[in-house]
Amino acid sequence: MPQHFLTLDDLPVAELRAILERAAELKRRHAAGERDATLAGRVLGMLFEKASTRTRVSFETGMAQLGGHAIFLSPGDTQIGRGETVEDTARVLSRMVDAVMIRNHSQAILERFAAHSRVPVINGLTDRFHPCQLLADIQAFVERRGDIAGATVAWVGDGNNMCASYINAARLFGFGLRIATPEGYGPDRDVLAAGGDAVRLAEGPEDAVRGADLVVTDTWTSMGDEAETEARLAAFAGYQVNAALMAHAADDALFMHCLPAHRGEEVTDEVLDGPQSAAWDEAENRLHAQKALLEHLIGARD
Ligand code: CP
Ligand code: NVA
Repeated sequence: MPQHFLTLDDLPVAELRAILERAAELKRRHAAGERDATLAGRVLGMLFEKASTRTRVSFETGMAQLGGHAIFLSPGDTQIGRGETVEDTARVLSRMVDAVMIRNHSQAILERFAAHSRVPVINGLTDRFHPCQLLADIQAFVERRGDIAGATVAWVGDGNNMCASYINAARLFGFGLRIATPEGYGPDRDVLAAGGDAVRLAEGPEDAVRGADLVVTDTWTSMGDEAETEARLAAFAGYQVNAALMAHAADDALFMHCLPAHRGEEVTDEVLDGPQSAAWDEAENRLHAQKALLEHLIGARD
């Protein structure tokens, strides 16, 4: 069985930490003009059923920087769009490429693909999780503040795929997570339960943010939820991360957002563009964290 990365839980925390250390090394080496060809001759298939800027560019650039190649695939221009099954697609693609990255609407379908793949499958965002983003976020936190173990993190907004991956990360990396969501928009119960003592549902945004070392939010309307946009705008009205809310966090608190941001909705320009924002570092780190992940999964460094 190949080693997949469908959620953060797929790898032991020691391996996640090793990936993050390698990511930092790759970032330093890249800045110093050093070039590594650890994935020379290797190919990543990238299957996108939803839009992407960061995920596509970081995986494609990452493979090129490591001497490999990436292929962009979408339902509209493959046989998937004409009904070839997930299982058959997995069987065929995985006899040709060295790893597959998938962004789709369903974690369950991702799992079905992985079950029939001979090569590692990476979750590039599903309806339920976004584990690659967490690697980049933790790398960005560590760069500015050191180890995230023992830190207090506030999640404010939708209990969506990003929130779920933060719950996984809290337990794995040993930080405390407080979650503030409007009624009816909380995280999945099973994911929350698995978070155990590391996670607490807060009484509201201020309760979540009080004294926090990191405040995180995301769009109020994820891809696939567009039909609910109007209801969501109303439900999330009190959940904007703005300067007044950040004032309740620790003085040196960081702000993160996986992007794309909806300025003036979940976050103000002032916070996103302000000195506490690590959003641009998170985006940049997708490149380095995923290069380290690809090396780890494809095993090119063994
Ligand atoms: N954060 C993130 O995954 O961005 P994209 O949707 O642009 O890939
Ligand atoms: N929660 C968002 C993240 C986008 C990167 C979505 O699923 O659309």
